Amino acid sequence: MPGRDLTRRGALGAVGVTCGAAVLGACGSNAPATPAVPPGIKGKVIAKTADIPVGGGKVFDDWKLVVTQPSAGVFKAYTATCPHAGCAVGRVRDGVIECPCHGSQFAIDSGKCVAGPAEAPLVAFPLKVQNDGIVVG
Ligand code: FES
Repeated sequence: MPGRDLTRRGALGAVGVTCGAAVLGACGSNAPATPAVPPGIKGKVIAKTADIPVGGGKVFDDWKLVVTQPSAGVFKAYTATCPHAGCAVGRVRDGVIECPCHGSQFAIDSGKCVAGPAEAPLVAFPLKVQNDGIVVG
């Protein structure tokens, strides 16, 4: 399956900026338009559940999609497009999805922004598990 395994842990750089609520008092003010499920994958198995590590996730670059498993058996799918300036999120570690461009971080269980400069969350896509397959859309 395509995608990058994003479970490795490393030194987490200092996070100097929190999301809009703490810094700007306007969390969500840069909310993105709701992206559509990437074409070609709606209703198809895109990964096996075993491909998504518990407490981590995987970014699917081709589909601009990130799938996480915040706790055993719970899966989430989000757009991989950062709401700050549109970069692709780069990796998942320590319970957050990280954007490499300016350091925004998003919770793997909700997509909520936990460190800015982004203020809005990652938009979630509907996801279901069919047998051992992950289906988005
Ligand atoms: S584009 Fe993601 S933090 Fe700026």
